[in-house]
Amino acid sequence: MKHIVVLSGAGVSAESGLKTFRDADGLWEGHNVMDVATPEGFAKNPELVLTFYNERRKQLLNAKPNSAHYDLAALEKQYKVTIITQNVDDLHERAGSTNVLHLHGELLKARSVDNHEILPWDTDIKLGDLCAKGHQIRPHIVWFGEAVPMIDPAIDVCKTADILIIVGTSMQVYPAAGLKDYVPDGTPIFYIDPNPAKIYDKHINTIKEKASTGMKTVIKALSSQ
Ligand code: APR
Repeated sequence: MKHIVVLSGAGVSAESGLKTFRDADGLWEGHNVMDVATPEGFAKNPELVLTFYNERRKQLLNAKPNSAHYDLAALEKQYKVTIITQNVDDLHERAGSTNVLHLHGELLKARSVDNHEILPWDTDIKLGDLCAKGHQIRPHIVWFGEAVPMIDPAIDVCKTADILIIVGTSMQVYPAAGLKDYVPDGTPIFYIDPNPAKIYDKHINTIKEKASTGMKTVIKALSSQ
């Protein structure tokens, strides 16, 4: 089986009603990303940050996968598929994808500020929620300025790609955006985004569409390969 590697970003969940990060004047749900997605923001105003992610978690629990998530999951009938997602939602999993690597953490998990034991978490996190050792619980999210522990496994996955599909990402955030450089030379790359970043690589087939329709275009192209 050929190995399809998918690099997904916020745009794949946009049609499920979850807002992207950079489509609205640099504000994310009305907040400056730096206030709610950095360790400094958390140190300055932990209540704001916890409330912000509590809202995102509630929103996620009411959202549903869209046809792009389902089409990506269905690729597993014919291909080995690994999804590397920058998203903290679980919509790929809920659509049926079985092999999903979360680069930037997961909204439905939490950990304490002091250690990295990851706990399943589907309710609000409040100031005063403590781990067994007495440290505050925080969302299991990789904030700006923090290490990205899953980047090495993601690089290894990319090295074994036969086909790369990039979908719904502005390709602005590293190290995620650099993953495309690890696929073997000559690997066909499809990049689906209604407002794609300019990437100079002759192997990239840019599909300027939303994730839902763009996935149909990719599936058609794959069937004629
Ligand atoms: N279908 C596909 N793509 C879409 C859609 C859609 N319906 N709507 C918007 N997009 C595209 C936008 O054109 C944009 O290129 O989705 C992309 C979203 O880009 P960002 O908001 O920058 O999201 P992403 O690339 O996932 O951000 C990377 O930045 O803030 C951090 O950690 C956060 O994981 C995130 C990372």
